[in-house]
Amino acid sequence: MTQGKFITFEGGEGAGKSTQLKRLVARLEAAGHKVVATREPGGSAGAEIIRAIVLKGQADRWSPVTETLLMYAARRDHIERLVRPALAEGAWVVCDRFADSTRAYQGAAGGADPGLIAELEVHILEETIPDLTLIFDLPVAEGLERAFARAGAEMRFESKGQAFHERLREGFLSIAGAEPGRCAVIDAVGSFKEVEDRVWAVVQDRLAVRG
Ligand code: TMP
Repeated sequence: MTQGKFITFEGGEGAGKSTQLKRLVARLEAAGHKVVATREPGGSAGAEIIRAIVLKGQADRWSPVTETLLMYAARRDHIERLVRPALAEGAWVVCDRFADSTRAYQGAAGGADPGLIAELEVHILEETIPDLTLIFDLPVAEGLERAFARAGAEMRFESKGQAFHERLREGFLSIAGAEPGRCAVIDAVGSFKEVEDRVWAVVQDRLAVRG
């Protein structure tokens, strides 16, 4: 059985990732692929429990290093129980956020040591590295406006302030610059349909999908 492909969606708040993820899943299924849609933090029963404690409460409830460890505990459970078995069965896994969110949120924006995060990637991800990472980019003010418009209980990161979110955007763009073979920046400004078409063009081009 051929391994499936692993696609991750990344970017700041309010970039429309979740909507675009659903649209990409529908297109991949229409092209004949078995697809598993998932998210981080979360995606497995244990990781969803960690999500509930890490995303709620005051902005300073956890330090960036503690957040890094919680994210990686959740990530390992998700990888072991869902991502690797699905890829091994030939399914395509499309994940809303993954390791680049830790680099950008806890590292670039939060100040956690990039060396610690790099070590965790080696030992926790092992060979589970995305085939393609789409980085949704849009101006910070626009993203926060969209995120606050749909405000719910999980607002710890949204409430960290403009400077944090500027560092976050730069962090994601520098990941894309450093790993152009794995990453593609998607301009998230525009209608859902415009952004969907940009995503599909990149996926077809990079992963040789027909449809
Ligand atoms: P979401 O709003 O896209 O569902 O993402 C949940 C929040 O978790 C979002 O504010 C980003 C944050 N997050 C991190 O800070 N580090 C991580 O490694 C991941 C996966 C998410």
